[in-house]
Amino acid sequence: AAGRIVLGIESSCDETGAGIVSEGRLLAHAVASSMDEHARFGGVVPEIAARAHLHALNPVVREALDQAGLRLADIDAVAVTTGPGLSGALQVGLAGAKTLAYALGVPLYGVHHLAGHVAADTLEHGPLPDPCVVLIVSGGHTSLLLVRDLVRDPILHLGDTVDDAAGECFDKVARVFGLPYPGGPAIDRAARGGDPAAVAFPRPLTGPRDDPYAFSFSGLKTAAARWAERHGDTPLPVADGAASLQEAVADVLTRKALAACAAYGVSTLVVVGGVAANSRVRALAEERCAAAGITLRVPRMGLCTDNGAMIAAVGDLLVRSGAEPAPLEVSIDPSAPL
Ligand code: KG4
Ligand code: ZN
Repeated sequence: AAGRIVLGIESSCDETGAGIVSEGRLLAHAVASSMDEHARFGGVVPEIAARAHLHALNPVVREALDQAGLRLADIDAVAVTTGPGLSGALQVGLAGAKTLAYALGVPLYGVHHLAGHVAADTLEHGPLPDPCVVLIVSGGHTSLLLVRDLVRDPILHLGDTVDDAAGECFDKVARVFGLPYPGGPAIDRAARGGDPAAVAFPRPLTGPRDDPYAFSFSGLKTAAARWAERHGDTPLPVADGAASLQEAVADVLTRKALAACAAYGVSTLVVVGGVAANSRVRALAEERCAAAGITLRVPRMGLCTDNGAMIAAVGDLLVRSGAEPAPLEVSIDPSAPL
């Protein structure tokens, strides 16, 4: 018999995602983003995000079904992000998922957003080896995880940022440099042709006494602002600043991720999240993994950023493992621990 078909819904931040997965296979993947509506505010506005999800949810579910050539009645289970994330945004996705599960008479599964990010890679590269180290770097997270069996074992949180997320650092520095929002892609573009050694930006929390897996990026933002200030009225060498900032972020991220692989005897590193798109982060990760004999897995960009397919991927693993579905009363957990 054909495998069960799982619809996944994601709405924790500014992306409304619907994805369809069956037996580890990606059948459909549709995303709508409200990023443009937040751009003039320089960051995601929770109220605007929640409303945008309300508008986008039905169309993205419809689009996913069309892509897969399926009807709603073909869905065997619904998986939805319950947290962490923006509470109003999460509520919209959960209400939609509950409605569908109830109307279709199929089980509902609540999914942790970070588990979704981890599972995204399985849709492209197959099952994850046990164990693996996962670096999640986006506008909302900077986490280093030790992952065993995604649905049976707890995910071990090795470290996190103590202040800003890496993507947030790019976004804030881009503003200081006069680059558009979101800042990550803008910094990446501006860095082409820049000298990564032009500015000696700090490498926060990399001292011998520092937590080897904790990150800090707010100091980098301040250092970048100081550097910009020092130029006064003279034109800012943005390419050099961007290349140097990118180098500092990529250096710290990859150094810590590889240290975790070495300490836990892990031979596979998975990098996901919007910042995995950064050309320097990718290049340095490839270089350092190759040197250390570690296999690097980075899913394609559309699966790296927030999406519904990654939630469906976890739902599919839960279904196949015989996990207990969530009751219809299940609630969101905006600050869900792992
Ligand atoms: O995963 P994502 O789409 O959303 C969440 O934050 O969950 O990640 C968005 C973040 C933004 O901060 C954006 O500036 C950053 O990823 N980003 C990049 C690049 N592309 C996106 N940062 C650096 N270089 C890039 N090429
Ligand atoms: Zn995310």
